[in-house]
Amino acid sequence: MAKESAQQDRNFDDLAQRFKKNIYGGLKGDIRLAVLERDCRTHLPNVPLTNVALSNVQLTTAPSAEKTAKPWRILDAGGGQGQFSLQWAQAGHEVVICDISAEMLKLAEEQINALGLKNRVQLIHCSVQELPQHLGEAYQFDLVICHAVMEWLQEPQELLPCLLNYLVPGGYLSLTFYNLHSLIYKNLLRTNFKKIINQDYGGSRGSLTPINPQNPEQVLAWVEQLPLKVLCHSGIRVFHDYIFNEEHRARDQQSLLQLELEFSQQEPYRSLGRYIHLLLQQKTPAEA
Ligand SMILES: C[S@@+](CC[C@H](N)C(=O)[O-])C[C@H]1O[C@@H](n2cnc3c(N)ncnc32)[C@H](O)[C@@H]1O
Repeated sequence: MAKESAQQDRNFDDLAQRFKKNIYGGLKGDIRLAVLERDCRTHLPNVPLTNVALSNVQLTTAPSAEKTAKPWRILDAGGGQGQFSLQWAQAGHEVVICDISAEMLKLAEEQINALGLKNRVQLIHCSVQELPQHLGEAYQFDLVICHAVMEWLQEPQELLPCLLNYLVPGGYLSLTFYNLHSLIYKNLLRTNFKKIINQDYGGSRGSLTPINPQNPEQVLAWVEQLPLKVLCHSGIRVFHDYIFNEEHRARDQQSLLQLELEFSQQEPYRSLGRYIHLLLQQKTPAEA
């Protein structure tokens, strides 16, 4: 992945506080974390069970999802404040968070200190592309998490080969990206027809709408070209963001969360998710 392109990727220094409040300060973040945890819990061993949002939600756990004795090495690439990966550290795993934003990492550090996780989490202020320079030979991981980063890159198509390189043989990759279809649909519902006609989908500077929303068909085509298999494919916020009335969104949040989980893997709702989650595993040489 070209190192020069990393310099044009979107650094979140000016968005860190807003991101924390708007995304993780309420139901949006709860839905995100609940879908991620449900997917990981269903398909991976070693899954932490610390998500408060899930405490009242009915989930099934696959028989294979039993704890293994050895803690995993986990990379949170473009991990920002580490809301998801710190749960893994709390469950005993070793976590590396890298990000180009010092402000995002500062907020991660505050949380690490508050949770007493200093000995299990390493923060690296660098781009995903440049990580091996900071880790030497220890740049491969059992699980790589890369959530909501692809859509902020100048060259999104180069992300997957880069992350694949950071996996141990048979390692797992949890990838989420901002779904172009959800943006098109939202603009249609809001009658923003000019945006549709001009195919004007990139967010403006200062906005939390990304510079490069991704077409899921395209991302799945990239996955297919690599030695990666899809274990799980979900939508995140498949209807929450289309409820335009704030008051209605705030009603009965527990049912909303439960229904988001229920519809997150059913078409056509999955394809309308604001984010798409793909849980991937590196293929064995025999499978590749
Ligand atoms: C939308 S935030 C997502 C943060 C976190 N992964 C999450 O899901 O909460 C995108 C993050 O990617 C970081 N970022 C953008 N380009 C990057 C790159 N090339 N290498 C590392 N981090 C990058 C930004 O600074 C920002 O913190």
